[in-house]
Amino acid sequence: MATTNKKKKNTIKEKNNIAPPKGKLGVLLPGMSGAVSTTFIAGVEAIKAGLGKPIGSLTQLGTIRIGKRTEKKSPLIKDFIPLCNLEDLVFAGWDIFPENSYEAATKSGVLEKSLVDELKDTLQDTAPMPAVFSRKYVKNLKGNHLKRGKTKMDLAEQLIDDRKKFKKDSGVDRLVMVWCGSTEVYIQASEVHSSIKSFEEGLKNNHPGIPPSMIYAYAAIKCGIPYANGAPNLSADVPALTKLAIKKKVPISGKDFKTGQTLMKTILAPGLKSRMLGLNGWFSTNILGNRDGEVLDDPYSFKTKEQSKLSVLEYLFQPDLYPDLYSDYYHKVRINYYPPRGDEKEAWDNIDIFGWLGYSMQIKVNFLCRDSILAAPIVLDLVTFLDLAGRAGMYGIQEWLSFYFKSPMHGENLYPEHDVFIQLMKLKNTLRYMQGEELITHLGLDYYDVA
Ligand SMILES: NC(=O)c1ccc[n+]([C@@H]2O[C@H](COP(=O)([O-])OP(=O)(O)OC[C@H]3O[C@@H](n4cnc5c(N)ncnc54)[C@H](O)[C@@H]3O)[C@@H](O)[C@H]2O)c1
Repeated sequence: MATTNKKKKNTIKEKNNIAPPKGKLGVLLPGMSGAVSTTFIAGVEAIKAGLGKPIGSLTQLGTIRIGKRTEKKSPLIKDFIPLCNLEDLVFAGWDIFPENSYEAATKSGVLEKSLVDELKDTLQDTAPMPAVFSRKYVKNLKGNHLKRGKTKMDLAEQLIDDRKKFKKDSGVDRLVMVWCGSTEVYIQASEVHSSIKSFEEGLKNNHPGIPPSMIYAYAAIKCGIPYANGAPNLSADVPALTKLAIKKKVPISGKDFKTGQTLMKTILAPGLKSRMLGLNGWFSTNILGNRDGEVLDDPYSFKTKEQSKLSVLEYLFQPDLYPDLYSDYYHKVRINYYPPRGDEKEAWDNIDIFGWLGYSMQIKVNFLCRDSILAAPIVLDLVTFLDLAGRAGMYGIQEWLSFYFKSPMHGENLYPEHDVFIQLMKLKNTLRYMQGEELITHLGLDYYDVA
């Protein structure tokens, strides 16, 4: 089902119309040596080995209510709908640094060294393939584990060959790709992104509007591989690639994992709005010292992230509908690279609100989080749900996965849904719908029907 095309017949309404998750699932990760990828890979291996639990993962720990509250039926999501098994995940990917997953996980320092050491034998078997990369798009990184090609189309074809080789060598049945690479410089969609034809010409002519993340997205979609983008750069979020996804019947989603400060925003802001409390200003600042922080220290990459982080409040507060409350607030977001903190980001929010008769109040949030610890379960859920979507015949933008993103991809004439509670309801209702179960509206009048 193309979620973007209303005229298309719905193909997932009937129960049991989902192909079973037979065989292994290959997980392709551009940015494989990064903190998020290695925390995800090592985490999955640790869970497989019984050394930890998949905390933070809805697919592994979440439940879903079926039927009426009086029926008391709330199975685990993974028992309700056929999801791939953790045991069946096999990892591959690309990076501009050649370290294997053991070396990279040790270097990123997110997980304790003793845990990474316990997984050494498994992790050192996984090393990235040479990347498609250019410093024009990520200025603060320099690596030499790179592909060479005359044109961007040549590079896309090399990625397609990599995927063929990996599939053959590993014997995986299906594939999913999640961009865990660095945030690229800010690029706006333009003519070259407007159609599949102009995009493919752009690849052949080395158009500067096509950064590496779009080359990976193109290669994935072209070969029918479900694709998610964990960074704020456009990647698959341009008409050419959303059209290609519909043509090739591939599910896609993005952008920018919703983890620390923005997760807090989308939890708090809907609550404030629900009680009709007004907003004068929201000041957000962060310190972080990992490689992501170093990349974001470049103003061109920061601009991409800033746009993603800023857009959230505008849609959540809907100033056009609530001019008395939200027409004039000040929103500022800062990210400061501060190496001593590594991956252990600290975020501060000062929120100036007002209530009855306009009297002012303040809220302070100080979130001492661990960036990749919050992101790893999101990668797992996206891999699992995108694979499900593929087996269920769903394609195009998967808006029901907005739950995981700061800048959710959405249909042309829709605004993005940022409210985390609506996002979760939408996600669970999509699962109910896929399994032919009644959707839950929370109306509940029938419980009180005494007539
Ligand atoms: N950790 C979080 O909470 C979080 C939240 C939202 C978004 N993100 C985004 O997820 C991405 C990964 O975050 P991270 O903390 O792992 O960053 P990281 O810097 O540790 O890892 C990124 C990796 O991507 C590699 N890379 C860059 N360009 C590449 C290319 N063209 N091909 C292949 N590899 C490439 C880098 O070498 C690096 O190893 C970043 O874009 C970040 O902004 C992270």
